[in-house]
Amino acid sequence: MSEKKRRFAVLTGGGDCPGLNAVISAVVKTFLQHDCEVYGVFNGFNGLVNGNMKLLDYADVSGILPRGGTILGTTNRDNPFKFAVEENGELVYHDMRETVVENLRQHEIEALVVIGGDGSLNIGAKLARECSVKVVGVPKTIDNDLPCTERTFGFDTAMAVATDALDRLHTTAESHHRVMVLEVMGRYAGWIALHSGLAGGADVILLPEIPYDIDSVIAKIKERKEAGKSFSIVVVAEGAKPVGGELTIARMVKGSFEPIRLGGVGEKLAEEIESKSGIEARCTVLGYLQRGGSPSPFDRVLSTRYGVAAAEACLRGEYNVMVSLYHDQIVTVYIQRAASEPRSVPVDSEIIRTGRQIGICFGN
Ligand code: F6P
Repeated sequence: MSEKKRRFAVLTGGGDCPGLNAVISAVVKTFLQHDCEVYGVFNGFNGLVNGNMKLLDYADVSGILPRGGTILGTTNRDNPFKFAVEENGELVYHDMRETVVENLRQHEIEALVVIGGDGSLNIGAKLARECSVKVVGVPKTIDNDLPCTERTFGFDTAMAVATDALDRLHTTAESHHRVMVLEVMGRYAGWIALHSGLAGGADVILLPEIPYDIDSVIAKIKERKEAGKSFSIVVVAEGAKPVGGELTIARMVKGSFEPIRLGGVGEKLAEEIESKSGIEARCTVLGYLQRGGSPSPFDRVLSTRYGVAAAEACLRGEYNVMVSLYHDQIVTVYIQRAASEPRSVPVDSEIIRTGRQIGICFGN
């Protein structure tokens, strides 16, 4: 009689991100190579609550490495500990932890690979802590704001998209003698703005970590004009705010992990720059272009390394960890630690000093 195969599951949770499919591919191929079975869970934790999953084979992951999005689907709404169900036109929240545990037991799943950002990793950590589910996390987000890792996959691609946008904005800014403001994502961290701003030769970079003084931004733009540069490029992170001011919120959303939808600071800033400097200003919001499409070569490699490392951790029975990049090596860290406060840009970091040394204004 043939021996029973070990069974695992993989899901993608939260906002999508370039490289998700590359991680899925690496996880699945590693498990299959070791004669294990692996379920793909559809639509993040929703699939775990509803038992929506299927066994994956080589054919399911063949050719997906360079594809954007996730073949498993995702959602940033469904939390099994507070699962929203519509009853009589109202959202009612249920604790579905027992259903999740039962679904895993029924499918004889030994451990779960959670590919996600802070919301999904927090749920993974809670499932491990409170329900004894065996979990291995993989750090995903274009924002690069997860603690306990030097890099999340997806960030490199987002940075490349934003840098390309800045290159394009440069030529039109120069032709029209305008100030071009580019609003980039990143939630409450400025990693995308900082790195793309440096790579794209921005004159002003505004980060959530450094509240900005509009007068300092205007002074920089005027100084450039006096030096014969009739245009300027400003990168602003969606989470940036003025000194003593508030975040700019696009919308509040019910039933989401993230009820605050950031957006709009770029347009506000462009208006203020135009009225205070007398120079025409325009705003471009890069939005979801940063999240869609094919991962960069760096992200493909990082995602593959993370996927293999996550499967290897499961195979050796090392659970309740997240795979992480540390000094260019893939290591594991306790998932409880990884599911803590987001990682901001340190304001005294070498990279900010580098920017200041070449004359970039950080709004202070
Ligand atoms: O975390 C990734 C991210 O793209 C943020 O940069 C952005 O604020 C947020 O997700 C937008 O998420 P949603 O998909 O809920 O609009």
